Amino acid sequence: MPAPERGTVYRAEQATFRRLLLRWFQNHNRDLPWRGETDPYRILVSEIMLQQTRVAVVEARYKKFVVQFPTARRLAAAKEQTVLAAWSGLGYYRRARALHRAAKEIVGRETFPATAVELMELPGVGRYTAAAVASIAFHEPVAVVDGNVKRVIQRVAANQFPANHRIREDHYWEIAGRLLDKKHPGNFNQAMMELGALVCLPARPLCGACPVADLCALRGPAEKVDRPARRKAVLHYALIRKNGSVLLRQRPGESSLMPGMWELPQITPANSKTANVKAANVQIRNQNPKPLLKLRHSITTTDYTVFVHASANLLLAGRWVPLRSVDRLPLTGLTRKIIQRLGDA
Ligand code: ADE
Repeated sequence: MPAPERGTVYRAEQATFRRLLLRWFQNHNRDLPWRGETDPYRILVSEIMLQQTRVAVVEARYKKFVVQFPTARRLAAAKEQTVLAAWSGLGYYRRARALHRAAKEIVGRETFPATAVELMELPGVGRYTAAAVASIAFHEPVAVVDGNVKRVIQRVAANQFPANHRIREDHYWEIAGRLLDKKHPGNFNQAMMELGALVCLPARPLCGACPVADLCALRGPAEKVDRPARRKAVLHYALIRKNGSVLLRQRPGESSLMPGMWELPQITPANSKTANVKAANVQIRNQNPKPLLKLRHSITTTDYTVFVHASANLLLAGRWVPLRSVDRLPLTGLTRKIIQRLGDA
């Protein structure tokens, strides 16, 4: 008989893998506000927020959000602009609109959709979110696959894939499904994600702290997965103030990025060498060429260097909004950051 190879997808090792992982999760999981939550609506909110946003950012926003909208009914009854304002800072605002519509659908049904298949009928709920909510809130034995889980699988099951081979999406789901602890699906899924987030790190995995290192086919850095190249860009904004108010403009409803959100007027300084002037931008001559503020901001695959210029140009169209109540409008994350930085300064 051939010697057993290492690698957790081998049946004999699966039970050990589950036991070790779950025990580790019990002792080491982070105390996050949605941990231990049993209300499916709140679990749905947390999972949608976590789709594309870091845990540290979600933590603070989630707590506020569920105080403001404690139930699906309360969220469904809110105005879209109020929901977008509460989402400010989380980015990817399409998620907020979809969650708002999902709340309306949930309220329109007799019961909360309780299986991954039913959950996927809700707006904004894809395979990952449906599996996370179904397993955590309803104990359905379905596995989740996110970026962290993929990395764990790439390593523990490295012997399942030809070297330098791009792993098919389906293959991850299949392996995650085989590894899943069907008696504790919610905790198992969260443990896989937590292991990827805390121990099985991309560049330098902490194999010495890993509960399943002995079962892992590949200890060490995973093969590089293709990542989209990052772009660099420069943005200029005008800060125009009058009597405690600031001038804000609303992005066009048909804009592909953050439609309908509010922001400081984007400008092209008259001394700019940038040839590519966007139609919506306004050329202004700076009274003071030294910017008021310079900061960095990243959205999807672009790293922006942002300059904010003080301006006295009162002719720009927009809405004067008292600084103390800007939070009531759905601001873009960047404008929120700028106003916060200027307040801190
Ligand atoms: N990432 C997204 N959802 C998560 C969860 N419930 N636990 C750990 N990491 C997550």
